[in-house]
Amino acid sequence: MTLTLSSCCTSDQHSEPHTAYYAQSLLSLPAMTSGQSCIPKLTRRWNAKLFLFTLVLICIFVSLPRVSHSGSYRPKTITILLWYWPFLTPYSLAGDVCLKSYGISGCRLVDNRSLYSTADIVVFHHHELKSKRQKLPLHLPRSGSQRWLWLSLEAPPNNGNLREYAGIFHLTMSYGPNADITVPYGKLMPKEKSGAAGPGDFIMTRNKTDLVCWVVSNYNKLHKRSRVYQQLKNTIPVHVYGRAVKQQVPQTELLNLISRCYFYLAFENAESPHYITEKLWRNAFQAGTVPVVLGPPRRDYEAVAPPNSFIHVDDFDSIDALGKFLKKLSTDTERYKSYFAWHQDSTVKLYTDWRERLCNICPIYERLPYKTYQDLSAWAR
Ligand SMILES: *[C@@H]1O[C@H](CO)[C@@H](O)[C@H](O)[C@H]1NC(C)=O
Ligand SMILES: *[C@@H]1O[C@H](CO)[C@@H](O)[C@H](O)[C@H]1NC(C)=O
Repeated sequence: MTLTLSSCCTSDQHSEPHTAYYAQSLLSLPAMTSGQSCIPKLTRRWNAKLFLFTLVLICIFVSLPRVSHSGSYRPKTITILLWYWPFLTPYSLAGDVCLKSYGISGCRLVDNRSLYSTADIVVFHHHELKSKRQKLPLHLPRSGSQRWLWLSLEAPPNNGNLREYAGIFHLTMSYGPNADITVPYGKLMPKEKSGAAGPGDFIMTRNKTDLVCWVVSNYNKLHKRSRVYQQLKNTIPVHVYGRAVKQQVPQTELLNLISRCYFYLAFENAESPHYITEKLWRNAFQAGTVPVVLGPPRRDYEAVAPPNSFIHVDDFDSIDALGKFLKKLSTDTERYKSYFAWHQDSTVKLYTDWRERLCNICPIYERLPYKTYQDLSAWAR
C-alpha cells in the first residue's frame, strides 16, 4: 500500500496498463494478461478509472498536512547553524531558545558544526573572517538548498576588503534596509498603554549637571567626529569618558552617568547610510538625554526616529553655532523638554542578543530570496 501510494505521488503519469495492474492487485484479483480476460473489458476500464480517481483523492489527502495556511510548503523546523560565535563569545543554546525566549517556533539555533549537513542556513560573522581568526569551510560540500549567510553590523569602511568573498554567500544580514535580513541596533515601538514604565523608558527626572558628554573608546584624530569634538570644546565644556581618555565607565553605570548630561554626542565611527548604532538608541535615548548626532544624513535618522528627538551636527553652519545653540537650549526648559515628547507614546527596543537576531530569521525564511552574491564588496559599499 505504501509503495503504491508513494509511486502515485511521485511519478507524473501512469499508463493505463500500469493502473490496471495496481487496481487488480489491490482488489486481490488474479493478475491477468489481456488474452485471459474473464471480466468484460468495459468493466475493467471502469474499475481502473474509479481506482485512479480514488488514488488522486488519496494523494491530495496525504499532501494536505504539508501545506501551511498560506498555501506554501514549509519545512517543519528551520536549522540555523552558527559556524562560530560573533567575537568568539558563546551563549547558551540549551532547550528551544527561539521559542523559550522569543516565542518563535520551528526555529532551531545550533552551534555544533557536525550538524552542518542538516543546516538550512550557515552563519558567518564577518569580524572573525576579517581578522583571520576563522575561515570559511570551503572544502565542505554545499547542498542546493543550504544557504550561507554573511553577517556584519559594521559600517562598510570598517569591513575591509570583501573582494575575496565573490560568489560565496547567498544571504546578507546587516543593519541596513538593503540586507536580506535587516537587524537594526534598535527601534522605537509604540508604548503599552498600561502606564507602567518599561525597560525602554528613560530616566529624565534627574538633575542635569553637565552640559555635553561624550563616551569614546576608539579615538582617531582622522575621524570627523574627533574634529567636531575639538572644535566644540572651544565653545562649550564637553565631558569625555571612555577608554580613549582612560576614564572607562562600567556598562552598569553608563546610563546613569549619561543621564546627568543635557546632551550626548552620539557620534558614529563612520558616516555611512543607515549606520545608526546603540549610541543613539541606548546611550542617548535610554539615558534620557538629547542626542547630538553625527553619522548618516538627517533623513536617515528621521526614517527611524522623530525629527525633533535629536540634533544633527549638519543642522548648523558651524560647530561654533552648534555649541551656542546647545548652551541656549539647556536654559530653555520648555523647549528642551519638547525633545522628549516622543516618550509619551514610544519606547526604545534594543537589539543586543545574537540569538534574538538569528531566531528572527525563521519567520521570514520563506520570503528570503534565492541568489548568490557575486560581488559582495559592491553590495556592501
Ligand atoms: C555535536 O553533534 C554530534 C552529532 O549529533 C554529537 O555527537 C556531539 O556530541 C555534539 N557536540 C556537542 C559539543 O554538543
Ligand atoms: C534637583 O536639584 C534640586 C536643587 O539642587 C534638589 O532640590 C532636588 O531634590 C534635585 N532633584 C533630583 C531628582 O535629584
